[in-house]
Amino acid sequence: MEIVETIAEMKALRRQSFGSVGFVPTMGYLHDGHLALVKRARNENSVVVVSIFVNPTQFGPAEDFSAYPRDTERDLALLEKERTDIVFMPSDKEVYPEAFSSWVEVGKVTEPLEGSRRPGHFKGVTTVVAKLFNIVEPTRAYFGQKDAQQATVIKKMVADLNMNLEIIVVPTVRESDGVAMSSRNVYLNPQERQAAAVLFRALTLAQGLWKGGERNAERLRQEMVSLISKEPLAKIDYVSIADAETLEELLEIDRPALASLAVRFGKTRLIDNIVL
Ligand code: PAF
Repeated sequence: MEIVETIAEMKALRRQSFGSVGFVPTMGYLHDGHLALVKRARNENSVVVVSIFVNPTQFGPAEDFSAYPRDTERDLALLEKERTDIVFMPSDKEVYPEAFSSWVEVGKVTEPLEGSRRPGHFKGVTTVVAKLFNIVEPTRAYFGQKDAQQATVIKKMVADLNMNLEIIVVPTVRESDGVAMSSRNVYLNPQERQAAAVLFRALTLAQGLWKGGERNAERLRQEMVSLISKEPLAKIDYVSIADAETLEELLEIDRPALASLAVRFGKTRLIDNIVL
């Protein structure tokens, strides 16, 4: 496994690579959700590249950039085990040199849900992901369904800007009680961690109602809100039933829909979703 820290080195290795390149961009502190992306990339490509970069531009001023968990040694051991070929771990200065002043911004699908709560977040994500795509030049890039809006936004960027790669979205990996794997779960205290299981219960409740024929989106939102509200440690940020493609809120579920939510447990904000 090659570990590279500069863009020049990464590009040089890319020029020497043969066959398809599968790319998994991450912010490190890897868990089984990330490893599912790496495994899938390994199965489908000749070369696997993983980046580890905690991207400062996608964090708001009041968010957890400096506290974001990091454990590079452990990450590298896990990636080696998954037979990763190249790990790209640039510094902040390498990605954003002093004179940096170009941004990639996607419209409309970045506006609702996470976009409305985290101004500038998706601008940071699309800018860094576009840069990483230009540096790594992958055949395929892998993203988790857990960050459903991020996956939608990146697909839109790739389509709108005619980028030459395929985006693959991999199902969410969950703990045994349904809590979606996330690097931020480490912030939860034991009570909050237990309480967080209410998110998946709410999503499966919505799914159950939908499978039973319920098509009124407001009814599903209300049922989810009512279940989550029974958990005293949970503070709802949003509960949404939206068009799975445009992410616009639905009145009636007459097309593929995304049930998604953001809920705070203490200082930790968790998101999750399920496709209807
Ligand atoms: O999903 C993440 O970990 C990040 O948003 C990403 C895609 C690596 C960009 O920094």
